[in-house]
Amino acid sequence: MTTRYRVEYALKTHRRDQFIEWIKGLLAVPFVLYSQPHGVFDNAATTGASSSESLTTTREEAHRRYSEILRDVELMIDDHILHQNDADNPFPSKLKLLVPSIGPFFTRLPLEAAFKFQDRKRYISSRRFVSPSFNDVRLILNSAQIMAVTTYGTLQLATFDGDVTLYDDGQSLEPNSPVIPRLIDLLHKNVKIGIVTAAGYTSADRYYARLHGLLDTIANDPTLSPTQKNSLIVMGGEANYLFEFDASSPHLLSPVPRDQWLTPEMMSWDDRDINQILDVAEDALRECIKSMNLPAELMRKDRAVGIIPSPPHVRIPRESLEETVLLVQKILEISTRAGRHKRVPFCAFNGGNDVFVDIGDKSWGVKVCQRWFGASTKGGIIKGENTLHVGDQFLSAGANDFRARSVGTTAWIASPAETVELLDELADLMGKKLS
Ligand code: IMP
Ligand code: MG
Repeated sequence: MTTRYRVEYALKTHRRDQFIEWIKGLLAVPFVLYSQPHGVFDNAATTGASSSESLTTTREEAHRRYSEILRDVELMIDDHILHQNDADNPFPSKLKLLVPSIGPFFTRLPLEAAFKFQDRKRYISSRRFVSPSFNDVRLILNSAQIMAVTTYGTLQLATFDGDVTLYDDGQSLEPNSPVIPRLIDLLHKNVKIGIVTAAGYTSADRYYARLHGLLDTIANDPTLSPTQKNSLIVMGGEANYLFEFDASSPHLLSPVPRDQWLTPEMMSWDDRDINQILDVAEDALRECIKSMNLPAELMRKDRAVGIIPSPPHVRIPRESLEETVLLVQKILEISTRAGRHKRVPFCAFNGGNDVFVDIGDKSWGVKVCQRWFGASTKGGIIKGENTLHVGDQFLSAGANDFRARSVGTTAWIASPAETVELLDELADLMGKKLS
């Protein structure tokens, strides 16, 4: 049951994606005009057609209108891309004026084709009582994005978030997970894989514990070449610990020393500033525990500080988690402006039942993967349009996958089951391209 409280809570700006809400609003117009409940009876009454004929007509009309709108948005994105690539043009694109929070696009998005694909799966145009939803639009955007990365170019690098994307929150990638054969299939197709997770551990055994199903399968798969096996890396703590697949290591992963993968910008992050940021964040988190009487305890790490539930399985109220994220973000911004430390990127986010502040963020994590695998290629880096990051956290405030949008294309999933569906869609498109 959706309570009024839940509805109002979802309206808070930090819990909305403006682009998706805007498209949803555009689609609501034909929904009201052509699909509203009275549409079920209207045609039959006025034309004498049978009710199944009238339903078909209404569905076709809604489908046509929805398709037209998505084609118009598609063209608007094309225009936005022209603006973003033209440094001499001082004017914002029409899309930027309509959706001020819109960011850069790495590819055009075939939204009309993606809508037709999702409409066949989800029967969006057949619905009379439920208008095109946030999830409909999110899935249309995902389909458009994977159509684009496979059709206009070649997918070279796929990066995945861990919790909620590859496995349920706090769980591990078990050997029977349906995600595993799909990831192996990507390796067979010579796509590089980066697991870019916020979970920050300094040793390989901890990542093996979370990812053993996948790592063991890769190690034991005789059909993968050594190069394909070495095409998996784990980027932990957002952008802090890099491990490469290593069949000879007991935990199938070897740590890579930082001096081998830090980007020049990351090398300039000073340890004193990092510690100062973590100290400021720690004070703010402690204050939140006290002021909201949170059932939580503080966890300080080498490159992160967070609060975790205490006792371990108690739920921390969602509002308290979000308040904590927004407050810590604000305090860190102020302390940077006040000159207490130099600006070093950080990411404060709500992990579902914890809050963490990590040094760096997934834009750096994905960028490291692009450089790692791109080192031997022309240009030395895999480009954004050849990269796809799949994750569950894409709200602009307090969500860690959101940052990956600045370095590559992205897909926003809501569960590991959706990741499986997305990977099947991707495999299908890549297969068609090959044939
Ligand atoms: P992700 O979804 O794979 O990015 O993982 C996020 C989750 O990892 C968080 O919700 C935390 O529960 C957990 N985690 C463990 N260690 C850390 C850390 O150092 N920083 C951030 N999250 C961590
Ligand atoms: Mg996640």
